[in-house]
This record gives sequence, structure tokens and C-alpha cells, in this order.
Amino acid sequence: MHKSVLYEEALKYLNLDDSSIIIDCTLGYGGHSSGILKEIKRGFLFAFDQDAEAIEYSQERLSKIGSNFEIIKTNFINLKEELNNRDIRPDAILYDLGVSSPQLDVEERGFSFHNDAALDMRMNQDQSLSAYEVVNNYSYEALVEIFYKYGEEKYASSIAKGIIKERPIKTTLELVEVIKNNVPLKYRRDKHPARKVFQAIRIEVNNELNVFEQSLIQALDVIKIGGRICVITFHSLEDKICKRIFKEYSSVDHHLKDLPIIPDNLLPKFKVIGNFKPSKDEIEENNRARSATLRVIERIR
Ligand SMILES: C[S@@+](CC[C@H](N)C(=O)[O-])C[C@H]1O[C@@H](n2cnc3c(N)ncnc32)[C@H](O)[C@@H]1O
Repeated sequence: MHKSVLYEEALKYLNLDDSSIIIDCTLGYGGHSSGILKEIKRGFLFAFDQDAEAIEYSQERLSKIGSNFEIIKTNFINLKEELNNRDIRPDAILYDLGVSSPQLDVEERGFSFHNDAALDMRMNQDQSLSAYEVVNNYSYEALVEIFYKYGEEKYASSIAKGIIKERPIKTTLELVEVIKNNVPLKYRRDKHPARKVFQAIRIEVNNELNVFEQSLIQALDVIKIGGRICVITFHSLEDKICKRIFKEYSSVDHHLKDLPIIPDNLLPKFKVIGNFKPSKDEIEENNRARSATLRVIERIR
């Protein structure tokens, strides 16, 4: 298994101390959480994930390090509710978005365009909407919109037409074939022609962008003064959301910009610490790191 992308950087910018209360919104297979747990001997870690397999693995992995953690099996859209139920304001919150490498590698999950599997792509195996439903039951217009909006796929329309014609499409490789047959030859030579459509379907199935935006706003609301939020994104759509929200929360309200003096209680509550890309070495070692960005914000008042 690869080490988590931007692992050292995320741990450093979370600014943990021995007794920090920290939320890992995306536990996965426990890479970041293990590192965190080692640093907070007197603190506590709450880790969210909705993937039963990842949770089972991480429960065991983290138990070997300490017992000062709780895994919460739910979507991180429920962040604020879960923290309020426990009466917690955290010192740090981490998001490492997207699918984990093991999710990509396990063929049956249907995330990968390299392996043949049933069309699934659900991060939460209990939910009913799957990639099969999207591919086989959505209208032509809905497919085009998803491929454009969530995949930035320029051949959205011809691919959607091809899908409608070939239905029912049952497996990932059948879908890859349909995509290949509906894009120009030249496009096939570049990167994998199914990459963007698979990303788009995955975002749709898991409602990823809405869920992230709503959760991030909750995170900004619950974090303690002096606390930090670190977000690792893997594509520009998520990164744009993070950048926009961080900018909004760290800027003076535009209605107040012309005031000669801004009262303290109307100054921004947050300061952007920065955004960081993986090193060349990390990208060479792990191709997934290529498109990753880490953004960090701190609550200052
Ligand atoms: C990139 S992996 C995290 C890897 C982890 N940081 C590590 O070091 O092993 C992302 C994880 O977040 C989970 N996830 C993604 N979106 C989620 C959501 N909305 N709610 C809860 N978990 C989510 C996925 O199931 C996956 O296990």
C-alpha cells in the first residue's frame, strides 16, 4: 500500500500537540490517523468514514497504537451533528478526499477503469444509488450534464449518445468500450479516455461535491480558535470549492471594505496558511499524488 499522499505535510500543518482533539473526516485505511494517534498521547481522535471495509481494517490498525480514538461510521456531512452530540470542539480537522487506493484496487467496487467489475462506485455500500443506475437509467440530458460538470469531458454528448444506444451496460469494461468507441482516435492516445467519465459518475453516485462543501462549512463553524483545517483534494472541482470557501471565510465582507476602521467583531475569523503540492519525489513514487493539493486555514478569532 502507498503511503498517504501529502502525509508529512498534513501532519505538520495540523499543528498537533500531545493533548489535541482531532477529527479525521476521511479515515480510509488509517494512514493519516495512525500518524496522528502517535502524536496525541493525551488527546483524542474522532475518525469518520462510511466504508465498512476501511473501518474494519483501521479499527485494528489504530488499536495497536492506542485506545484514545473513536471511529464514527457515517458520512462526514453529519460532522456537526456528531460533534454536537459529543459536545466537542476540535483543535484540528483533516479531509483527505476521494477514494482510497484499496478502494480503487478492489475490483468489485467498480471504481477502476482498468479492471472488469459490476458498475458500482458506492463509497457507502448501504446506499442504493450505484453507477449501474446512473449509466442505465439517467436521461441523455442528465448524462451530458454530469459528464461536463463533474468530468469536464469535452466529448460528453457523443459518449452519452453511445451509452443510450448500447444499454444495458453492466460492467466497467463494457462502459470503457462504449467510451472508447465514441471519442476520436486521437483522444484515446492521450490519457485514458474513460478517466473523466468515471470521475464524473463517481462524483454523482456519492454526491461528492455537495457533501464536501456542506461539511467544510460545518468544520469552519465547529473548529476552536487557534485550530486548523487541512484539506487534501485530488481534482480541480474539489479544490475550487475549498479555495472559494477559504477565501470567503478569510476575507473582510465586501460591504465593509470601504470603512476606514473595521470593528474587531467584523474582522475575518480565519487566516489562510497556504496551499501545498506534493514534491517531485512523491509524484514519482505515487502517480496519484500528481493532482493533489493541500490547503490549510486557521481560526484566529
Ligand atoms: C483518500 S481516502 C483516505 C485515506 C486516509 N487519509 C489514509 O491515510 O489512509 C478517502 C476515504 O474517505 C472516505 N470518504 C470519502 N467521502 C466520504 C464522506 N462523504 N463521508 C465519509 N467518508 C468519506 C472514503 O470512503 C475513503 O475511505
